[in-house]
Amino acid sequence: MIQLAIEAALEAGKFLKQSVGNIKQIETKLGQETNLVTEIDKKSEELIIGMIKKRYPEHDFLAEESGSHDKTSEFRWIIDPLDGTLNFTHGVPLYSVSIAVERRGEIIAGVIYEPNLGEMFAAEKGKGAFLNQKPIHVSKVNRLIESMVVTGFPYTIRDNPDNAVQHFVNILMQAQGIRRLGSAAVDLAYVACGRFDGFWEVSLNAWDMAAGVLILQEAGGRFTNFRGEPSNIYKKQVLASNGHIHDALVEVLGRGLEKG
Ligand code: IPD
Ligand code: CA
Ligand code: CA
Repeated sequence: MIQLAIEAALEAGKFLKQSVGNIKQIETKLGQETNLVTEIDKKSEELIIGMIKKRYPEHDFLAEESGSHDKTSEFRWIIDPLDGTLNFTHGVPLYSVSIAVERRGEIIAGVIYEPNLGEMFAAEKGKGAFLNQKPIHVSKVNRLIESMVVTGFPYTIRDNPDNAVQHFVNILMQAQGIRRLGSAAVDLAYVACGRFDGFWEVSLNAWDMAAGVLILQEAGGRFTNFRGEPSNIYKKQVLASNGHIHDALVEVLGRGLEKG
């Protein structure tokens, strides 16, 4: 299954790259003016699901554009066919394809492919995490002031859900630097390989993080809610780190929660 996920992500990534500058339909979603979807998102998803269905016609899917396919299989593929749609529509070459396999509620495999740098992040449960087949590990940084962290904002940011703006300001004042790349899957993959030391976001969906959380954990990272409690991909809050700065991030996020 991991091999098929890699093949599907490579195909979708190639398609996305070819489609830059050739978007014909841009629509908004969920009544949010900044939440965009293009025909490229939809075609990428069809391509991925088509490849998987050929091999595993009985498997279930949870995919961003087509939702839950409601099949009764113990296997479910969780797919974000284009993570970073806003970057993509603006021609910013940073977006990804995220594909995970869930078996009876547990993520057992995940891949994130970033086609512009040609980077394939992959992990299988219990077998470690890899970037282009080389093992990856989280960083060793253990002080927030030496940490480069990353975040993202939900399309509902104007409502300041979960005190998102306050968290951003609080962490900005404590960390060495903050980045906002525009693809949550890439954010998680970059924590996994040690480029970033931590990542948080107030509201993500399962398809944004299914593959990334497994890759992070297999690379030695930690994933919780903002209080440092165990979480799962169906909860909105994400706090991911190298483990060493996790408690410090929980402490700073806690200041924003108290005020929220
Ligand atoms: C978005 C990206 C972004 C994050 C948003 C997501 P999309 O996914 O991952 O980085 O901040 O919360 O919704 O819409 O580009 O697939
Ligand atoms: Ca996404
Ligand atoms: Ca998407």
